[in-house]
Amino acid sequence: MMHRIIVTFPYHVLNCIFIASQGNEKKREPREKTRDLSQKAKFTIRTTSKQTTTVESKMGYTLAIVGCGVMGQALLSAIYNAPTAETQELESLYPSKIITCNHDARSAAAVDDLLKTFGVSPHGITVTSTYEKNVASVEQADVIILATKPFLVKAVLDQVKDAIKDKLVISLATGWTFELFSHYTKYVSRVMTNTPAKFGFGCAVVCNSDAVTEHQRMLVSQLISHVGTVVELPEKNMDAATALVGSGPAFVLLMLEAMMESGIKMGIPLRESRECAMKVLEGTAKMLEKTGDHPSVLKHQICTPGGTTIAGLFTMEELGLKSAIVKGVVEAANVSAEITSKMYKDLQSDN
Ligand SMILES: NC(=O)c1ccc[n+]([C@@H]2O[C@H](COP(=O)([O-])OP(=O)(O)OC[C@H]3O[C@@H](n4cnc5c(N)ncnc54)[C@H](OP(=O)(O)O)[C@@H]3O)[C@@H](O)[C@H]2O)c1
Repeated sequence: MMHRIIVTFPYHVLNCIFIASQGNEKKREPREKTRDLSQKAKFTIRTTSKQTTTVESKMGYTLAIVGCGVMGQALLSAIYNAPTAETQELESLYPSKIITCNHDARSAAAVDDLLKTFGVSPHGITVTSTYEKNVASVEQADVIILATKPFLVKAVLDQVKDAIKDKLVISLATGWTFELFSHYTKYVSRVMTNTPAKFGFGCAVVCNSDAVTEHQRMLVSQLISHVGTVVELPEKNMDAATALVGSGPAFVLLMLEAMMESGIKMGIPLRESRECAMKVLEGTAKMLEKTGDHPSVLKHQICTPGGTTIAGLFTMEELGLKSAIVKGVVEAANVSAEITSKMYKDLQSDN
C-alpha cells in the first residue's frame, strides 16, 4: 500500500513529497518481532524552477533501546510518534530502525502490546522487539539508549563491551557517571527524565560527556525534546536532578493524594476531590510559568489578612511541611550518590 504525505517547509521554497512504501512483513523469528510499518523512504524535492531532484532520505541509523520497561517505553513512544521535523537536517537525526532489547519474553510482550497501539511513524521508523539479544542488537546499532535498572547496567555493559565501544550511549541509569562509562565508551549523554515523559509532559535534564560531538549533542537534544521540557545541566547536578525530576512526580503525587484526601475528609466525593486537587495543581503550575513570578509572591496574593489561606499555611509550616519536602528531595539525591559509590566499588572489585 502506498502513502503520500505532502509536507511544506515554511522557510524554504520547496515542497517535499514524502513517499513511504510499506514493505512486506518481515519473516518473524521466535525472539524477534518487527513492527514493519514503513520500510522504504525517499524524498522527492521539487524546486520552484520545476527541477526535480530525488535524494536518499538521511534517516539511516539504528537505535537500540536496551531495557525497554517504563522509561524505555516512554522514550520509544516519544521518538516513534514524534511529528516530522521542520528541516531535513533535523529529520536526519531520527533513526530509521529501533531495536528494543529486554530480558525475557514477558517484558518483550509488553513492548509488543505498546507497539499495537501505534500508527505509522511520521519518520517511517520500524521497530523490532527482542529479548535475550543484547549483543546482536548493540552490534547492529549506531546509538544505544540504556534504560535498565542501575544495578543491572554493569552486567549489560560487560556483555556488550566489544560492540558498544565508541558508540553513543544515551543513559537513563541513575548514578552511572561518565567516569564509570569511560570503561566502555567515552561518548555518553546522561538523561534524567520522569514518567510523565510517556505522555509528552515530562522534564529531562541532560548532560553530555566532553567527547560527545556537536552532531551527537544535536541528536540527543532532538530525540529527548519529545519527552517534554529539556534542561541542560553539568554532571555535578545529576544527583539533584534525579531527586527533583526523576523522583519528583512521586513527591507531587503524594501532595496531590493528601489534597484529595482532605477533600474526602470534609465530605467532597472522591471523583470530585481528585478533579479539584488535580486542576489546582495544574492551574498553579501554569500560573507560575505564565507570570514568571516567585512562588512566594503568588502565594501572598492568595492570603487575605486574618483569612483562611494564611491559617492553613501556618498550620502546615508548624508541622514542618516545607522542610519535610526539602529533606525528602535531598535524601533521594543522597541515595542517588550512594548508588554511584556502589557502582565504583563493584567496578573496582572486578579489576
Ligand atoms: N521509573 C522512573 O520513574 C524513573 C525515573 C527516572 C529515571 N529512571 C531510571 O531509568 C532506568 C530504567 O528504569 P525503569 O523504571 O524504566 O525500569 P523498568 O521498568 O524495570 O525497566 C527496565 C527494563 O530492563 C529490562 N532488563 C532487565 N535486565 C535486562 C537485561 N539484562 N538486558 C536487557 N534488558 C533488561 C527489564 O526487563 P524485565 O522486566 O524482563 O527484567 C525491563 O523491561 C533506571 O536506571 C532508573 O534509574 C526511572
